[in-house]
Amino acid sequence: MTTHIVAIDQGTTSTRAVVVDHAGAIVSVGQHPHEQIFPKAGWVEHDPMEIWHNTQEVIGMALGKAGLTRHDVAAIGITNQRETAVVWDRSTGKPVYNAIVWQDTRTQDLVDALAADGGVRRFAETTGLPLATYFSATKIAWILDHVDGARARAEAGELLFGTIDTWVLWNLTGGVNGGVHATDVTNASRTLLMDLRTLDWDDALLAAFGVPRAMLPEIRSSAEVFGHAYPGSLLREVPVAGILGDQQAATFGQAAFEAGASKNTYGTGNFLIVNTGEHIVASQHGLLTTVAYRLGDEAPRYALEGSVAVTGSLVQWLRDNLGLISSSGEVETLAASVPDTGGAYIVPAFSGLFAPYWRPDARGAIVGLTRFITRAHLARAALESTAFQTREVLDAADSEVPVPIAELRVDGGMTGNELLMQFQADILGIPVVRPKIIETTALGAAYAAGLAVGFWSSREELTALWHEDRRWLPAMDEVERERRLRVWKKAVTRTLDWVD
Ligand code: G3P
Repeated sequence: MTTHIVAIDQGTTSTRAVVVDHAGAIVSVGQHPHEQIFPKAGWVEHDPMEIWHNTQEVIGMALGKAGLTRHDVAAIGITNQRETAVVWDRSTGKPVYNAIVWQDTRTQDLVDALAADGGVRRFAETTGLPLATYFSATKIAWILDHVDGARARAEAGELLFGTIDTWVLWNLTGGVNGGVHATDVTNASRTLLMDLRTLDWDDALLAAFGVPRAMLPEIRSSAEVFGHAYPGSLLREVPVAGILGDQQAATFGQAAFEAGASKNTYGTGNFLIVNTGEHIVASQHGLLTTVAYRLGDEAPRYALEGSVAVTGSLVQWLRDNLGLISSSGEVETLAASVPDTGGAYIVPAFSGLFAPYWRPDARGAIVGLTRFITRAHLARAALESTAFQTREVLDAADSEVPVPIAELRVDGGMTGNELLMQFQADILGIPVVRPKIIETTALGAAYAAGLAVGFWSSREELTALWHEDRRWLPAMDEVERERRLRVWKKAVTRTLDWVD
């Protein structure tokens, strides 16, 4: 009898395989980081072969720790860093260029050229997205324009494109020996190439970005059998039955299945998602409209999303680039050694500013410096910047949905940070609630795969698996909260118009 689901979570900084049991508990985790490649300022790349290698390794680690074999596994779910673009040769299985990561801003000129005719909201009606370097389309175009012969080969059907889910799926189901070339609606909704209503690639968009249809994967639902793990693999013959982009997966893993439900994930960036049910809500306040999930032939569910590019990765930057701390965990102790930031604010606009500003011309700033400021104040300011950015996207979401968000469900690594969570509640003025399992991204992919193969029977069954672990209540008075927010917004203005 199969008793478990394996979820593969291919994230921005590491790849994880997570074994989930029928009660929705995490049984074991295998994890391996991969190299972050920064060839120039603003460029961020990953090696797709390293990612595929790590994927196989972490599956082995997770199965080994749990003492399970493929005979125990009912299905595989895939979840992934979204938007990141890979182009590879269908006959050799080798990428023609490194993966261009979602944070990469090299295509700003192309974005500007396209926006010159119709503005950044030119494709928003069809795709739910503003024109920005964040999404896949201009990254694909860049590869086709800069790799010798790539465009002609893509047109001839020799090259394939995929977001990371597609890259993992294709390899896992056999690669050059019949790998399945498909994606799910949530990942496709982040490319700037899919029509939110038809859930198909849109010819006008393909023409505008110069992306040949021949290289694109088939768009499928989030929960169905995509294919089976290839004969030589540890999980051979196990069906791959669920795919969701990581933020949509976290929403699913938080059991935020119905309209009005929401979650905020604290990862390398922060991503607030509010489920809008079967309604496509066009944002007036800088949020993205995206697909939340689609189960088989059911009607798709949509969502609004507030994407913040830099939160957890700011802590990594303090560690790796400034050497202020020696491990990420140290940030909390250091921040807690001072009562406040001493008036310092950090606005980490490393990839410009995402929601709700969408200002590619912004660059990061540390403001309010005096001789008094120490590394402890900066550590605290880094954590606070995560909370302020979340407040701004929550305000945007509240102005778009019929019922304001009364409490915020949170997940992701940084929710283990007490100081940040209390400050988050303080600066939002609503309770912040963390579930027992904060691995909601992996859980969501496991849930989708499990629903597709009948391992779980319904969303109601999954809702019953959600349990509250901690709740932080706002303790800051209203006047102070609004004062801090005002100063934060002033700090944000200092980052704008920086790029000439
Ligand atoms: O849109 C980018 C997002 O999917 C990346 O998530 O968790 O890998 O930082 P994460």
